[in-house]
Amino acid sequence: MDIFLQTENLLKEVQETTIDSKETLEKFRIRFLGSKNILKDVFGEIKNVPNEKKKAFGQLVNSVKQAAEEKFATEQEKFQTSSQENNNIDLTLPGDVTTIGARHPIQIVRNKIIEIFNRLGFAVQEDREIEDDWHNFTALNMPEDHPARDMQDTFFVHINPDIVLRTHTSSVQVRTMENQKPPIRILSPGRVYRNETISARSHCFFHQVEGLYIDENVSFADLLQTLDFFVKELFGKDIKIKLRPSYFPFTEPSAEVDVTCFICGGEGCNVCKHSGWVEILGCGMVDPKVLENCNIDPKKYSGFAFGMGIERITMLKYQIKDIRLLSENDIRFLEQFKSAI
Ligand code: DAH
Repeated sequence: MDIFLQTENLLKEVQETTIDSKETLEKFRIRFLGSKNILKDVFGEIKNVPNEKKKAFGQLVNSVKQAAEEKFATEQEKFQTSSQENNNIDLTLPGDVTTIGARHPIQIVRNKIIEIFNRLGFAVQEDREIEDDWHNFTALNMPEDHPARDMQDTFFVHINPDIVLRTHTSSVQVRTMENQKPPIRILSPGRVYRNETISARSHCFFHQVEGLYIDENVSFADLLQTLDFFVKELFGKDIKIKLRPSYFPFTEPSAEVDVTCFICGGEGCNVCKHSGWVEILGCGMVDPKVLENCNIDPKKYSGFAFGMGIERITMLKYQIKDIRLLSENDIRFLEQFKSAI
């Protein structure tokens, strides 16, 4: 076939090819604009074209090339627009928002307690949750068969009844006094376990913070001042404390501490059961027998200790009615603490 006719047919082909998909567009590009396109082959024939027709032939090939380039450009544009429409992409929409998690309420209260006592020089001291009888009970003045053990329903490890899941963080007192010399000023947050029926008010595991201060001449007045500072920092400047005499085997004298109800300001409400006061912790002067058990001379040193339940304080602070909410990890509950840091 005459090379001119052949080239004119290519022009027709360019004009008439229907491009209805990405694939046909790509085929078109390869045929007319690719690195081994058909126009190169056709142009190669110029050597066989008589001299006087060479110019016209060159122009014809060029016009095919130009037509192919224009068609490709418009079809490509059309195709891109329609693919965006198909995918429903709206580039003016704002980007995806990454949701930020919230701290767990137990963690929020724990951190706050630590921060307050840090300012008084108490350092965080953590220890094991699986304890032996000595550190959880005996050293704390609760020898075997002592009735005080009944205060804390214990999980024993089957194969070795000497090993328990710690029932309180007071065990860290003993471990610290055994390993450090006074002055000692520690705060021990951690998880504890009790063999209790799970209900809205009690759980088989929860968290406590234990405090211990041992030095020369530590008095009950120091304990009082420390706790007074603590509750005012945690609940507010107007909060008052009241100490009720109590009993713990490891402290003498012992007391339970109530604070004026921070919900009703002391007037009486459901939270304080209309008494105007809520109980928040136990405390006392470390019993000399406990100091002796830990090789600290009770004639030279004295000290105070206190322990509080983080769940209890958290429930009071945020008016949470059911302790189980604090361990179920229901996102609808936890999300409410996003702004509380
Ligand atoms: N260990 C006690 C409990 O779990 C709390 C406690 C009371 C700790 C008095 C103390 C304290 O250090 O002095 O109920």
